[in-house]
Amino acid sequence: MERVNRICEHPVWKWHMERLAEYEKDRIFCRHGMEHLLDVARIAYIENLENNRGISKEIIYGAALLHDIGRYLQYTEGIPHEKAGEELALEILKDSGFSEEEQEEILEAVSRHRDKDTKDSSQLAGLIYRADKQSRICCFCSAEPECNWSEEKKNRQIRV
Ligand SMILES: [Fe+2]
Ligand SMILES: [Fe+2]
Repeated sequence: MERVNRICEHPVWKWHMERLAEYEKDRIFCRHGMEHLLDVARIAYIENLENNRGISKEIIYGAALLHDIGRYLQYTEGIPHEKAGEELALEILKDSGFSEEEQEEILEAVSRHRDKDTKDSSQLAGLIYRADKQSRICCFCSAEPECNWSEEKKNRQIRV
């Protein structure tokens, strides 16, 4: 998992994560810090194991760590974060030693993690899409009544 750790040591990743943490400090809704990213990685990896998808752990963790990296630019510049994130992720992945094929797979997951057409995909993008939604524990969230997530997305019960 050396390359995964290189992502977290990358100055661009660190800069965006730090700005994002500051920006979301008082946010009552779901935040997008390290806890969320690792929740997504672990949930996606569990689905990968349970369904024998055969996707590598490094690719899953790489995609999870990068999927929300464009959030700060969404807040400050209005760029949808899956688009802003795709650009940032490319630079980080190149510097972290991922092959072109791996970069492509991860970038697809980053850019499509909010795309409903990805919802049922058995590919990495589908795994990240579902893990992202499942990571939120709406039934224990005090901001849930004000949250704009659709009923379909909200986790009203613990999913097993
Ligand atoms: Fe996101
Ligand atoms: Fe997310």
